[in-house]
Amino acid sequence: MKVIGHRGAMGLAPENTLLSFRTALELGVDGIEFDVQNIDGNLLVFHDDTLERTTDGVGHIHQHSVEYLRTLDAGQGEQIPFLQEVIALIGTKTMINIELKGVRTASLVMHLVKLLDKDHYNKDNFIISSYLFSELFLIRQLDPDIKIGVIADDQPDVALSFARDVNAYSFHPSLALVNEELVQEVHREGMLLYVHTVNDPDNIAKVKAMGVDGVFTDYPDRVR
Ligand code: G3P
Ligand code: MG
Repeated sequence: MKVIGHRGAMGLAPENTLLSFRTALELGVDGIEFDVQNIDGNLLVFHDDTLERTTDGVGHIHQHSVEYLRTLDAGQGEQIPFLQEVIALIGTKTMINIELKGVRTASLVMHLVKLLDKDHYNKDNFIISSYLFSELFLIRQLDPDIKIGVIADDQPDVALSFARDVNAYSFHPSLALVNEELVQEVHREGMLLYVHTVNDPDNIAKVKAMGVDGVFTDYPDRVR
């Protein structure tokens, strides 16, 4: 069962920061997940729509310039990172799961992944995921081979049907949706099942017994 660090290792370091990604790498994860938003054509690694929970800023992230956002403290003196910085840090050390948050992110992300693929990176090392079918549909139009992950917190049948249509690589349901039947159905479709977000040791053991292929966790140290 693969261990995928959620927003890096957000149980152990400020989420979606270079410190969090370094922490996950030190723990020897199989993959790292983070969230990406498009701020005026710049790709920033950030989860929420608003700044208060994770930074010393206020308001909606899209109300602000990138210059201002980069002055904020995202925890322990860390900046909100650019996607390029995060990819440069992780490199090919582990799988990179870029979760698209919101509109107008898909084409920029694909542009970047294609540029990287010409370099020493391999696009096989990336999974592009989202809750938003429209973004994933666009990703598939832009690249027939890139690995797509479909995230679902409800209506697993609808999401799985979309995953089949978009030729997804993996299905990322929330813990509440996962049972043995779903695992088998996803496997019958030829996809991997990565469940989010599993932190409790009993739940980690439970999903492992169900045969899931990987877990997103805030505490990669608990799974290893
Ligand atoms: O990609 C799995 C998980 O990160 C999706 O939920 O809200 O943590 O981005 P969220
Ligand atoms: Mg996420």
